[in-house]
Amino acid sequence: MTPAALPPPARLADDDVHIWCLRQDHPIDPQALAVCEALLSPGERARRDRFVFPRHQRQFLLAHALVRATLSHYTGVAPARWTFAENQYGRPEPATPDVALPIRFNLSHTDGLIACAVTLGRDIGVDVEDVTRQAAGLDIAERYFAPAEVADLARVPEADRARTFFDYWTLKEAYIKARGMGLALPLRAFAFRLAPGAPPAIAFTPELDDDPATWQFRLLRPTATHRLALAVRDSPVRPVRIALDWADPALFARYHR
Ligand SMILES: CC(C)(COP(=O)(O)OP(=O)(O)OC[C@H]1O[C@@H](n2cnc3c(N)ncnc32)[C@H](O)[C@@H]1OP(=O)(O)O)[C@@H](O)C(=O)NCCC(=O)NCCS
Repeated sequence: MTPAALPPPARLADDDVHIWCLRQDHPIDPQALAVCEALLSPGERARRDRFVFPRHQRQFLLAHALVRATLSHYTGVAPARWTFAENQYGRPEPATPDVALPIRFNLSHTDGLIACAVTLGRDIGVDVEDVTRQAAGLDIAERYFAPAEVADLARVPEADRARTFFDYWTLKEAYIKARGMGLALPLRAFAFRLAPGAPPAIAFTPELDDDPATWQFRLLRPTATHRLALAVRDSPVRPVRIALDWADPALFARYHR
């Protein structure tokens, strides 16, 4: 039997950033999970199997199926065909097949939520965190945040501190992920400024050779208990149009070959 044609690729315009989110703690049809499994490479399945707890295995499975389905959604490539190459800090990029679109992606997963952000030809980083997790103290901030960020956090009323903590945390993660260097970048050498009604802004110490004017950041609340931060860079800067949508693993079967 000849397989049906893949759905036509969806449009991703030059100024688009699309973020696809998935609730991996919601019930998912076993057939949809089997399709996700079939989309993964043997290497990804081996990585998934190394997780001890089933919920981490499921999170990994869904996250990597989401990346493949998202890239396929915009390119028409069958998801199982993607291969990835990592830079020296572990950041994956699509390696094959060759596609005409300069598509870039970044993935983040945490308890309850997975996000995959895509755009064309710009650096991109995304981070999601569960704001109810116990990690939001001033002592942690003093270890990881820039002095101006710690000072701001200390001024925030106790009741709002966890929220503000995760605003900074996710933004800092999104920035280091967009740079593709992870924790090789000094976290205290850049500081975010948060002002009501304005997108977050960044400032660098001389230790980091970077230009704030090339960056755009957003903070979003995809659920009542999750914070999502997005970082995009291009030079000269082109204003982006950001859309967040919910992915349905039951639909990944459309791409399955
Ligand atoms: C690895 C790191 C890039 C992200 O880690 P994380 O927040 O635990 O994980 P996320 O779920 O957001 O992102 C993981 C995904 O990012 C991608 N990734 C891996 N290395 C990356 C890099 N150097 N740059 C960008 N993306 C990367 C991969 O797709 C990875 O998915 P996989 O592990 O399922 O293959 C790095 O920033 C890190 O280790 N952070 C630790 C947390 C910390 O101490 N943060 C301090 C913040 S103030």
